[in-house]
Amino acid sequence: IASTINRAARPTVSQLAHQATSSLPRNFSTTTPNNMKVLAVLYEGGKHAVEESRLLGTVQNELGLRKWLEDQGHEYIVTSDKEGANSELDKHIVDAEIVISTPFHPAYITRERIEKAKNLKACITAGVGSDHVDLTAANEKGLLVAEVTGSNVVSVAEHVVMTILNLVRNFVPAHEQVMAGNWNVAEIARGAFDLENKVVGTVAIGRIGERVLRRLKAFDCKELLYFDYQALDPQKEKEIGCRRINDLKEMLSQCDVVTINAPLSESTKGMFNKELISHMKKGAFLVNTARGAICNENDIADALASGQLSGYGGDVWYPQPAPKDHPWRKMRNPLGGGNAMTPHYSGTTLDAQIRYAQGTKDIIERYIKGEEQNPPDVIVEKGDYATKAYGQREKKKQ
Ligand code: NAI
Repeated sequence: IASTINRAARPTVSQLAHQATSSLPRNFSTTTPNNMKVLAVLYEGGKHAVEESRLLGTVQNELGLRKWLEDQGHEYIVTSDKEGANSELDKHIVDAEIVISTPFHPAYITRERIEKAKNLKACITAGVGSDHVDLTAANEKGLLVAEVTGSNVVSVAEHVVMTILNLVRNFVPAHEQVMAGNWNVAEIARGAFDLENKVVGTVAIGRIGERVLRRLKAFDCKELLYFDYQALDPQKEKEIGCRRINDLKEMLSQCDVVTINAPLSESTKGMFNKELISHMKKGAFLVNTARGAICNENDIADALASGQLSGYGGDVWYPQPAPKDHPWRKMRNPLGGGNAMTPHYSGTTLDAQIRYAQGTKDIIERYIKGEEQNPPDVIVEKGDYATKAYGQREKKKQ
């Protein structure tokens, strides 16, 4: 009943759109902390967001921040229009003090955009993963880049386990077969395996990588391996029963299944190319829910077509939204399966949206009050990286 009342009381999409634009002429100076311009770039929710108010990460539901920000005298602009020099993003970034975006519909905050954003102080990721901001340029300008660390790591870990099972058990072609009215057990079973007794390795064992291995423990895999320049706590290693391998190629050569859980940075961009994939076991499965640009799109499609990979799955692409002709949409292995791609939604379940909306509010509140941010949320601040997750680098001298 409560949610029905909520829905009835909510403004329509067109009222929301009007609100977003009608806040424009209001006479706010955007330079003082008491009346700043906050710009949010979110994904379109359409009728789904009207029917489901928990879709907080949409343009329609605005992370639930409008009233809270406007009651304090701030201007709140919400848009999904982010591409090209005439986009709403480009129009409003010029005098915005805070830019919020999600990795699901990322506002690419390039050096060029940072340079023209004369009032910009903070870029906030409603979610996890701030690679859509040029972090080098953000550091040069002394911006705060913060994200809602941990907000959707369980959501992603569950998606990874689902995708691994999906690929290993050849689920998608089996489902497509019944939907098409057919019945051919052998066609599917020739590409289906058990996960039990297989070797699974994760590239990175941060919050998501660790949670993936913990969940896989129940499947009695032969070995759970990881590659990361930061070692897991020995107690956790013991609990999970996993083993660190210091050489990435060495780990890949042992794995039946590989899951990528590292941020996109200069050290991971294009990492999974033809050369690296050639070190994987022939016919292995690769799951990437980290970032699309960690994998070379054509090399992945070629590896699937040749059978070097039996399957590739995940939810992350570059760019996003993915173009209609992106090779990962239609690629298949020689048996006609092996594709478990979805749009980027693993970290934006309804449960996750509540957490990242709340976390975004918390970061803004601390910013407004001049309080220190929660340290794990900070990616870069005062000209330097505050996290060790975006590649190994020397700490700058103060
Ligand atoms: P985290 O910060 O807890 O862990 C990252 C780990 O990656 C760290 O242990 C770090 O040492 C390791 N790492 C970095 N570069 C590496 C490299 N070159 N080789 C091996 N290890 C490396 O991050 P968390 O929360 O686990 O998230 C990881 C990434 O997952 C995010 O940065 C984001 O890109 C992606 N993600 C995707 C989501 C989705 O919806 N598909 C949602 C949330 C995160």
